[in-house]
Amino acid sequence: MIHKPTAGNQWWRSGVIYQIYPRSFLDASGDGIGDLPGIIKGLPALVDLGVDAVWLSPFYQSPQKDGGYDVSDYCSVDALFGTLADFDHLVAEAHNLGLKVMIDLVPNHTSDQHPWFQRAISSPPGSKERDFYHFRYEEDLPNNWVSLFGGPAWTKLTDGSWYLHLFDSSQPDLNWNNPEVRKEFEKILRFWLDRGVDGFRVDQPHAMAKAEGLPDHPYVEEAGAGFIEGRESPPMWFQEEVHDIFRRWRKILDSYSPERAMCGEAYVLPLSFMAKWVRPDEFHQTFNFRFLDADWSLERIRSAINESFAAFDAVSAPSTWVLNNHDVIRHASRFGGGYGRPTASDGISSKDPQPDSQLGLQKARAATLFMLALPGVSYLYQGEELGLPEHSTLEDSRRQDPTFFRTGGKRVGRDGCRVPLPWDNSNGSNGFSDGDPWLPQPEIFKELARANQTAPNSTLQLYKKALKLRKELSLGNGGFDWLEIPGALGFQNRNVKVVHNFSDAPISIDGTVLINSSGNATDLLEPNDTVWLSD
Ligand code: NOJ
Repeated sequence: MIHKPTAGNQWWRSGVIYQIYPRSFLDASGDGIGDLPGIIKGLPALVDLGVDAVWLSPFYQSPQKDGGYDVSDYCSVDALFGTLADFDHLVAEAHNLGLKVMIDLVPNHTSDQHPWFQRAISSPPGSKERDFYHFRYEEDLPNNWVSLFGGPAWTKLTDGSWYLHLFDSSQPDLNWNNPEVRKEFEKILRFWLDRGVDGFRVDQPHAMAKAEGLPDHPYVEEAGAGFIEGRESPPMWFQEEVHDIFRRWRKILDSYSPERAMCGEAYVLPLSFMAKWVRPDEFHQTFNFRFLDADWSLERIRSAINESFAAFDAVSAPSTWVLNNHDVIRHASRFGGGYGRPTASDGISSKDPQPDSQLGLQKARAATLFMLALPGVSYLYQGEELGLPEHSTLEDSRRQDPTFFRTGGKRVGRDGCRVPLPWDNSNGSNGFSDGDPWLPQPEIFKELARANQTAPNSTLQLYKKALKLRKELSLGNGGFDWLEIPGALGFQNRNVKVVHNFSDAPISIDGTVLINSSGNATDLLEPNDTVWLSD
């Protein structure tokens, strides 16, 4: 057997975790921006959907230069989203409803408005205040590193000193060699754990430790800031020193009851290397970007799954599976066109070829159904349960992603997957807000609003049925074996056979249909559809 059923059935081993992007979930205040009271209002819909936990993208005090991933106070709630009392209410309400709550921790960088950075730039070169960040004092660029959002990874202050930022210039990188930085983050972890959060999704953990002396990136021209399999680790990623930090954090989490968990947003390949991030005394899980980047191709999905089980089983960690998040083109559009590596976060503009929305949605529903039968943890991103497409014709004047600005519009960035959710047809933003939504919705959101998806064949009902079956059949902690079916990818988990038709012709299937991504219960599986069958 490729993967054996696991004994542990904790939520972080076998559950389904739903990502909430607070700005775009539901707005209770009427200012056009989603907020914590809106999330509280929407929680029953998530219970109805059948997820086990929610992960909240950042809601902390922030100038919002990078959608809140530029934090200026880690122990606060930005007034845009509500108050700490709202947060406590949210956690209590989620727990009453049986949902776990994970929050985002952003330790690689702060906002340039964070008091630590403000204090640093008003202190002299060489001071202990400056040692919280990476400052350099030469005339020219200190090294050849580039920002993931485009342009150099260094910005010069008016006093002539440079500071490092792997993302936007408003997001200076912290110096994790400084024990004071480590101490501050341990306090931050405890602050939220004491408030009852069940865990953290940790942003860019593989970037926190940098190679001694910040040497040039040896293959920056080829890789940008990315990763090339088989090459030595770039000096800003995957440094061994980072593991001590996670071990320390794990000890802190383990001192709390009930059990808390952390997920690393570690873009680390190959997966055998990523497995180091989920050794028993480090992260509980990491995002499986290998699966996300495999797109929807038979060979790449097969090898991603094989590598995942081999790597994660070796360290007794669950594999996670993910097809969407707030950084990538929504899968209902991605699978309807060739848009390159999803994690490049390039987006779609009205000048690009537009997705085939029908094919995209068909494949997206099938891919999700396939994913939800895999043992391990599945992550869903808000709105995918409605079959929402990317906003692929957003006007440039509405864009907010720093990627758009740092590349002079060459990469339009991630706004298209962050558009406010449609709930019903009660107002101009389809029930999202009584005000003007911060990003406009495409026309199709009217039809796709949650309240409109009551027909058994709607995407929302498909997700609900799949999540219910997944739980009833204990697929989350089941086993995995491939089934050999020409033109298809098939596997068995417990008594369920799962088949996706990658070929151009229908495949005849044998068994009782439990659920079919097309909604048809025939004994033929059409191209691009997935079916679950019982023996
Ligand atoms: C990953 C987050 O998912 C993304 O939205 C953010 O821009 C970068 N990390 C920087 O924090």
